[in-house]
Formats: sequence, structure tokens, C-alpha cells
Amino acid sequence: MESIIEFSHNVLLRNLSRDDVVIDMTVGNGKDTLFLVKHFKFVYGFDIQEVACTKANELLKGYSNYKIINDSHLYFDRYVKEEFAGAIFNLGYLPGGSKEIHTEVDVVLETVKKVLKKIIKGGVCVLVFYPGFPSGLEEAKVIESYLRNINQKEFTVLKYEFINQINNPPYVVAVKVRI
Ligand SMILES: C[S@@+](CC[C@H](N)C(=O)[O-])C[C@H]1O[C@@H](n2cnc3c(N)ncnc32)[C@H](O)[C@@H]1O
Repeated sequence: MESIIEFSHNVLLRNLSRDDVVIDMTVGNGKDTLFLVKHFKFVYGFDIQEVACTKANELLKGYSNYKIINDSHLYFDRYVKEEFAGAIFNLGYLPGGSKEIHTEVDVVLETVKKVLKKIIKGGVCVLVFYPGFPSGLEEAKVIESYLRNINQKEFTVLKYEFINQINNPPYVVAVKVRI
């Protein structure tokens, strides 16, 4: 069975093509970004923490098909002026960093709404939720509830979760824009 992270990556691989532009909305240590640069034409990555951007740039040395931007994902459309087909939000706090700095429900919700307006038809937006800590739980509840109610004629939305794990394990929600 695919892990949560494997599934979040593979849902992009299965639905998008090598020629696509994708966005990593939460770069962190750059592991998701590294996966994306290996499989897609160009990757834009956003993180509000400079330390994360620096680490990611180190991890990505040798690749040229990416741009890491030290700004909030909320403003992604100030930087991404071309068509994009994929977006990933791996929510929560920077592994190994301060737990005080984490994604914020209102910002993520507004960004997701913007993504769903701008992403191309057939595109996929993936979110990894971490409801095992308080702000992660609120984030998961609010955003999942929004995505449960978007028009099924326009979007296909799925949830991938392990149902026998204790302590609110992470899970994935993926949204595909119908063609
Ligand atoms: C769980 S980590 C991401 C893990 C990362 N994708 C990896 O592979 O290592 C979440 C990241 O989101 C960042 N973040 C929080 N709010 C943000 C925002 N508004 N815009 C962009 N990044 C944000 C945090 O600084 C943190 O580095």
C-alpha cells in the first residue's frame, strides 16, 4: 500500500504529464519539490521561511527546472504567469523547524480557492493534512468540508486515509478538475 506521501506524489504522476508545470505550495525541506523537478517540466515552490528555501535550494542543486520563492503561497499568482496543471500542499510545520510556524487555515483555504479557479482542466491539486496537532485538525476540518461541497460536475475529489491508525494520522485529499 502506498504511504500518504507516496500517494500524494503518485496521484500527480498518474494524472499529469512530463510537460506540465506544477507548484509546490509548501517547500519545507524540499523533498516534495525534488520529486516534482524529477518528473515535471518546471516547478515553482513557495515557503514563508527563508531557512526552508535555503535548504531546498541546496537539495535541488544540479537541477535547473525550478524556482523557489520566499513568499506566501497566497500570492502564487504574482509569480506563476503561465498555465499550471498541478499543485501540492504538504501542510503543517517544517520538519525539524519551529512548530510555531505552520500553515494557516484561512490562508490555505483562500489559496486553494484561487488554485481551483486558475489550474488547467484535467489538473490536480493535492493536500496532505496533519490533524494530529490542534491547528492541523482545524485546517483539515475546514478545508475538507469546503472540498466536500464543491460542484461534482466541475471537480472530482477523493480522500486517501488509513482508518485503523490511532491519533488522527495524516491523510490526503486530491481534487481533479474535470475536463
Ligand atoms: C510540512 S512542511 C512542508 C514539507 C515539505 N514539502 C517537504 O517535502 O519537506 C510545511 C511548510 O509550509 C510552510 N508554510 C507555512 N505557511 C506558508 C505559506 N503561507 N506559504 C508558503 N509556505 C508556508 C512552512 O514554513 C513549512 O516549511
